[in-house]
Formats: sequence, C-alpha cells, structure tokens
Amino acid sequence: MQDYQDILAEVLIDEVSLQKRVKELADQINHDYAGEQVLLICILRGALPFMVDLMRHLSVLNAIDCMAVSSYGAGARSSTGNVRMTLDLQTNIEGKHVILVEDIVDSGHTISRVIDMLRTRKPRSLKVCALLDKASRREVPVMIDYRGFSIENKFVFGYGLDLDEFYRNLPFVGVVDLEKYNKE
Ligand code: PRP
Repeated sequence: MQDYQDILAEVLIDEVSLQKRVKELADQINHDYAGEQVLLICILRGALPFMVDLMRHLSVLNAIDCMAVSSYGAGARSSTGNVRMTLDLQTNIEGKHVILVEDIVDSGHTISRVIDMLRTRKPRSLKVCALLDKASRREVPVMIDYRGFSIENKFVFGYGLDLDEFYRNLPFVGVVDLEKYNKE
C-alpha cells in the first residue's frame, strides 16, 4: 500500500472545513432535540471518525451503538440492494429517537435497507445524518435529515472512507488519483 500522497489527486474537503461542518450539524441536532435524548447509531466502519467528532459537539443527552451491514454481489465501490446485517445493535431502540450516522450515501441501498430493518423495531423517530451525499449516484430515494456536504461523483477516501481498508484515519476527504492507484 502506498503513502496517501502518492495517490491523492486533490484534497476535496480539508480538515478545517470538515470540522466546521461537523460542528454545524451537531448544533442542528442540539437544536432539534433540545430536552430530549437521542441514540446515535454508527454504521460501521466508515462512519466512525465522523460519529466520534459529531458526538463531541452534542449537548443533548446521547447514547451510542454500532451496527454493520454488507452487500453481496457488488464491486468494492458500489453496493446493491442485497444488503444484510452482519453486526446487530446491542440496544433496544423501541420508543427512542434514533439518528443513523453514515459517512456517505451513494446508491442509497445501504441506508435505505438499514432504515427498513430498524423501522420494524418501532423507534420513536428515525433520522439520517450523513457526512457526504453523492446524489448523482442515487438508485433508491433517501431522505437525509442532516447532510454535511453534497459531492460530485468522484472516488473519495479519508475521514472514514477507505481504499482497500486503509486511509480511514486521514483527517480530510481526498480524491483518488485513479491512474496512480491502479498502477500500484
Ligand atoms: C460505504 C458507506 C456506506 C455505503 C454507501 O460502506 O460507509 O455504508 O458504502 O453506499 P451505498 O449508498 O451505495 O449503499 P462500505 O460498504 O464501503 O463499508 P465501510 O463503511 O466498512 O467502508
């Protein structure tokens, strides 16, 4: 695996802009849920850094949980409608205000399937907070209640988003230089 600088075409969203926007999203959540309790659900693994940064700015009482899903029959860079849960929640969400935290909504299949699965458990409310929205790639409609950034259809990595499982720790979102990455 190469140093990230060897495959970075450009920094799409720098660290300062990311942190500023994450704080703004947290402020919106603090406002919308004032006096309430929320359960944040991190969709592993890409949403981890975003979720951690987001929760640091929350003043509303919050609990956290994690779940994981995987999709079959898909290339590494896209998902299909065939999404299954690989790690379930530890928490009973019935009657709770739930916020699903995602790093990116692309085709929309993952979050849409997660919403369908969790609705049956009767949360009091169920909202979606996604850092990145690649709307041009959408295959199923998704309502994003808290959106960090709308981005074009570029192959991005960093701040939770991986390349073959690496680089999730980068503090910025970068665009992959596909020519250099594919030569590796
Ligand atoms: C990514 C991302 C979303 C999903 C979005 O997860 O974290 O969950 O893909 O794509 P979609 O809208 O087309 O369904 P991935 O399956 O790469 O797993 P990861 O979070 O562990 O990186």
